[in-house]
Amino acid sequence: MKKKLNKIAKDTNLFLKSFIKKQNNSELMSVMKYGLFPGGKKIRSKILIDIGLLLSVDYKILINVGAAVECIHAYTLIHDDLPCMDDDKIRRGKPSTHIKFGESTAILAGNSLQTMACEILATPNLKLSEKIKVDLIKKLSECSGHLGVAGGQYLDLKYEKKKITKNKIIEMEIKKTGRLFSFCCAAPAIIKRKEKKEIEFFENIGSNIGLLFQIADDLIDFKGDERIVGKKTGKDTKKGKATLISLLGYENSIKYCDKIISDIDKSLIKYGSKSKDMKDTLKFILERNI
Ligand code: IPE
Ligand code: IPE
Ligand code: MG
Ligand code: MG
Ligand code: MG
Repeated sequence: MKKKLNKIAKDTNLFLKSFIKKQNNSELMSVMKYGLFPGGKKIRSKILIDIGLLLSVDYKILINVGAAVECIHAYTLIHDDLPCMDDDKIRRGKPSTHIKFGESTAILAGNSLQTMACEILATPNLKLSEKIKVDLIKKLSECSGHLGVAGGQYLDLKYEKKKITKNKIIEMEIKKTGRLFSFCCAAPAIIKRKEKKEIEFFENIGSNIGLLFQIADDLIDFKGDERIVGKKTGKDTKKGKATLISLLGYENSIKYCDKIISDIDKSLIKYGSKSKDMKDTLKFILERNI
């Protein structure tokens, strides 16, 4: 699993570097690169590849789509660390973008990464029909905006220091993190021009993977080692973040994750041994310490 993840991370970075090279340079680009490289785990690209395997989608196309997702992800991290949001000074083991370059520059680099994601999906080098490209851009926009990441981040901040129900916490975590994973699971089905119902089936799996991923991130914040994880830990409790751990406790949150994993595994049974890579990824998501 680790080997495959490293290869995907390497290929995604190579794609991004060559895409950037073809653009005219600008001062903001060096800030965007700071947020993008050397980059994180690339787990979203791994999910794209795992689902792509079930539907026999070309690896290179998926790396290209994954690069667009990583641009959105990097933008959300830059903004998430701003003083008006989580106010975090360390990200991926180095000073957060706004610490290094200032707040306004960090905001603008984030905005530019977001639009670069659409450019990546619109590029003629991506060998997909115009219709599929538009559908991908539409779905990625939907998952990033007010019904996705931005909407979830809004709720995350609004819920600080408040008593929030389990369902509302889950809704917030699915929006802020799950929806980008929904895109990763839906994209291979969109590329294969599957029917709406099948695309929704994969989107739903993505939401649950993203929820699992965010709860695991909350567990790491609760118990993790900041030297390993590359960002500060113990911040959620300090900030009064509404998390499942704050509501159910550590052990029950792990049990909740086990249930999510077994539900996803069940829904993928029909794909037989092809779903082994996804199973490994889910196990990694819960057991990781980074
Ligand atoms: C961190 O995401 C933010 C969340 C959505 C929980 P990752 O853990 O995927 O961050 P990187 O890309 O590996 O740094
Ligand atoms: C971030 O969640 C989710 C995003 C959409 C960026 P967190 O605020 O828990 O992520 P970290 O712990 O700072 O990486
Ligand atoms: Mg946050
Ligand atoms: Mg944060
Ligand atoms: Mg966190």
